[in-house]
Amino acid sequence: MKKVVLAYSGGLDTSVCIPLLREHYGYDEVIAVTVDVGQPEEDLMEARARAEKLSDSFVLVDAKRDFVYNYIFPLIKANGMYEGYVLGTAIARPLIARHVLAVADREGADAVAHGCTGKGNDQLRFDAVFRTSSLKLIAPVRELGLTREEEKRYAAEHGIAFESDKRWSVDENIWSRSIEGSELEDPGVSPPESAFRWTAAIAPDTPDILKIGFEHGVPVSINDEVRDGVALIKDLNAIGGKHGIGRTDMIEDRVLGYKAREVYEHPAATILLDAHRDIERLVLTRNELRFKDMVDRTWSELVYQGLVMDPLFDALNAFIDKTQERVTGYVYVKLDKGVARVIGRESPYALYTKEVSFDVKGEQSIAEGYSMYHGLQSRLAAMKRRRY
Ligand code: ARG
Repeated sequence: MKKVVLAYSGGLDTSVCIPLLREHYGYDEVIAVTVDVGQPEEDLMEARARAEKLSDSFVLVDAKRDFVYNYIFPLIKANGMYEGYVLGTAIARPLIARHVLAVADREGADAVAHGCTGKGNDQLRFDAVFRTSSLKLIAPVRELGLTREEEKRYAAEHGIAFESDKRWSVDENIWSRSIEGSELEDPGVSPPESAFRWTAAIAPDTPDILKIGFEHGVPVSINDEVRDGVALIKDLNAIGGKHGIGRTDMIEDRVLGYKAREVYEHPAATILLDAHRDIERLVLTRNELRFKDMVDRTWSELVYQGLVMDPLFDALNAFIDKTQERVTGYVYVKLDKGVARVIGRESPYALYTKEVSFDVKGEQSIAEGYSMYHGLQSRLAAMKRRRY
């Protein structure tokens, strides 16, 4: 009895994997595992219905809290962003892969499988985690080099029906929604309004102002109401989306080195990342900010590449957590016509001091001594250049 556990989304790629694992790879038992990281309820229901028909058993893991508290919150602390891409799919993949591995261990499976193609980043992210175990790794779509058209034909032959209105390849979790493929493959073509689900094209006339509470770098309340992390993100997605906040249309450098056109929606992420970066500027020193900027960038690259099992990742998180001890306070954000603008911030740890403000009559003359030494070398060089 050969047993394989498949990371299953319910989409075309992973659905064709089920008969392939039986017919082409000779597995007797295929266990489909869907990890709930906040994708729409109807997607989960569709995955269940399809898996119950195609596979031998179906496991649904609710990982929403795990995702928010152990992946999204560290991401907020790290200002996680890659080339302007709010890391969404990238941050969820290792979590999904880890849950799939856990099921494989429990079931005593011989292999784990995913439905990624050989073109994107996701294959690397799944592989990286799967290869931490000694189980056999199978990626049928990549190994057989299937095109989407071939998959559709194979699916039809196996009675797997897909609505033809599924134009784009969409990946959705509680933090972001990514849309790619079809006409969006042409970077010059603007995405049709129907590609968007979370963000409104027409925003209301009256803005909303939110007071977001942070504790040790993570959001804990909205308008003085303490919220659970999952609910907080869902609420911000709803209200931010209503104001048309959080759309990205960009060209991105994939891990394999080629450029891809990507379209995203992420209202809560836009609001929280802007607010977090802002309060950091109030409470962290110039030295901390400058150094953390490099740390954040490396953190984000590791996540994008799917290398979160690298010991460096833990080390960076330790540094980041240390800096977040003082990232506590409130940020006021105005949501207005597609823009989330920080309009105020406060913290008991603010490094802002009134003594140097414009309105206070202080000892201005003491700055003169500092000024004499300020840029001494640059000044000397400039003067000598002029002379010769
Ligand atoms: N470009 C993003 C990444 O590599 C998102 C990929 C999303 N996948 C999708 N099927 N829409 O993380």
